[in-house]
Amino acid sequence: MEGLTSIVIFGASGDLTGRKLIPSLFSLYCKGRLPRQWRVLGLSRTPFTNEEFQARMEAAVKEFMPEQFEAQAWAEFAPHLAYEPGNLNNVEDFQDLDARLAKMEAEADGPANRLYYLAIAPRLYEATVANLGAAGMIDESHGWRRVVIEKPFGHDLPSAKALNAAVHKVLDEAQIYRIDHYLGKETVQNLLVFRFANSLFEPVWNRNYIDHVQITAAEKVDVGHRAGYYDGVGVMRDMVQNHMLQLLSLVAMEPPASFAADALRNERVKVLASIRPVKVENVARHTVRGQYRGYCEAEGVAPDSQTATYAAMRLYIDNWRWQGVPFYLRSGKALAEKTTEISIFFKRPPHLMFPLPPGARLEANDLSICIQPDEGIHFTFQAKVPDTAAGMRNVDMSFHYADYFGETPIPEAYERLLLDAIKGDAALFTRADTIELSWELVDNILAGWQSDAAPPLITYERGSWGPAEGDALVAHDGFTWLLSCREH
Ligand code: BG6
Repeated sequence: MEGLTSIVIFGASGDLTGRKLIPSLFSLYCKGRLPRQWRVLGLSRTPFTNEEFQARMEAAVKEFMPEQFEAQAWAEFAPHLAYEPGNLNNVEDFQDLDARLAKMEAEADGPANRLYYLAIAPRLYEATVANLGAAGMIDESHGWRRVVIEKPFGHDLPSAKALNAAVHKVLDEAQIYRIDHYLGKETVQNLLVFRFANSLFEPVWNRNYIDHVQITAAEKVDVGHRAGYYDGVGVMRDMVQNHMLQLLSLVAMEPPASFAADALRNERVKVLASIRPVKVENVARHTVRGQYRGYCEAEGVAPDSQTATYAAMRLYIDNWRWQGVPFYLRSGKALAEKTTEISIFFKRPPHLMFPLPPGARLEANDLSICIQPDEGIHFTFQAKVPDTAAGMRNVDMSFHYADYFGETPIPEAYERLLLDAIKGDAALFTRADTIELSWELVDNILAGWQSDAAPPLITYERGSWGPAEGDALVAHDGFTWLLSCREH
């Protein structure tokens, strides 16, 4: 019997709950994907009645998912939402919460399952998990208990290790669901389908055919009202440690034998373990750091802040598949456009029998996977220009989600992740070892940035593509950053 699933959201008055969690649950409800018996119990310090909480959530869904809001469905959904004020540092509040949950559970049939979602400030993670344990709320004798933990999981390797150790005191690793919402994105999951459900690409997906790989995660927005959080965190901790390294690991991993959570996670972690650490003495050669003009004037930012809002880097993966293939990563705020793209550049033909105009160079084939916004895949190749002797130019073979799946809106990443956590599928969540390895890589670079060997922090203009040094990093190796998806 399926039983009752209670989703307990800690941090229920916060931004994430209204912006992502409740809209995603509402959408899952409308699609009929939630368990037959389910409840949400929101908790935070602010006192609200159930009705006030429901009204706030209704406003949030209308604001953040206007096209999907439907009054009739909301009227059925809303009574499932309840609220309990509480202090996460107070074990008594957890006991009260447990009693309230137990009362709801007593009225339902079958097992009483609980998903605890930590949508709270990271400094409260440890206390919250400890209090869940102290209040006996992790005990699985009446149903499963799982805890979803948002990013950032730690702010460096020692703090991530300490947090892992603290949560492991209370929870088994199999009960912990560390979220990286990039893994919930449809296009990121499609990367796995593209690589492993087609036989064409895998044979050439290696150093024999691939010249280099570029991963761009550019954002148009600046740090805005999150400046207080962002300062001291910067792009390395905010985007590279999690989202970008996850993208890299999906591009570079070996084919897993199955879609079982650990089969997939084992392969991802092996990639991270094979990335060559950037040594302090090489940090200026392999990395670039930038800060957009005006960043220091934002409220909450130190006037002399050295926080990087842009980073570009060259990484190598020391294994048989990727030896010698550079992976270039770049990410930044206040850039020209919002775009996330992975481009795989293939090697040029070993010999060209066609004459090229003086000074011209044959463009390599490139395969670009557009994660967002215009989701799709592009493959560029050379074609003969009609009515010329041997004129050639790059042409594009494209797949846009909108052309094939136009009717089906791409779901919010949190929908998939929430549902997977409810189902107990951890494939798209991050395991303790992955978190620690990714912090180790990032810490190495950040240590270099703190040292005398650091590359200078370059100021770049808002609305640009970042500092010229970022372009020079790839130009040094004979390449340019390319955003095929934007062009096609
Ligand atoms: C978050 C970062 O994890 O990802 C933000 O903290 C960033 O700074 C966001 O803006 C980007 O996510 P998305 O889905 O908009 O690409």
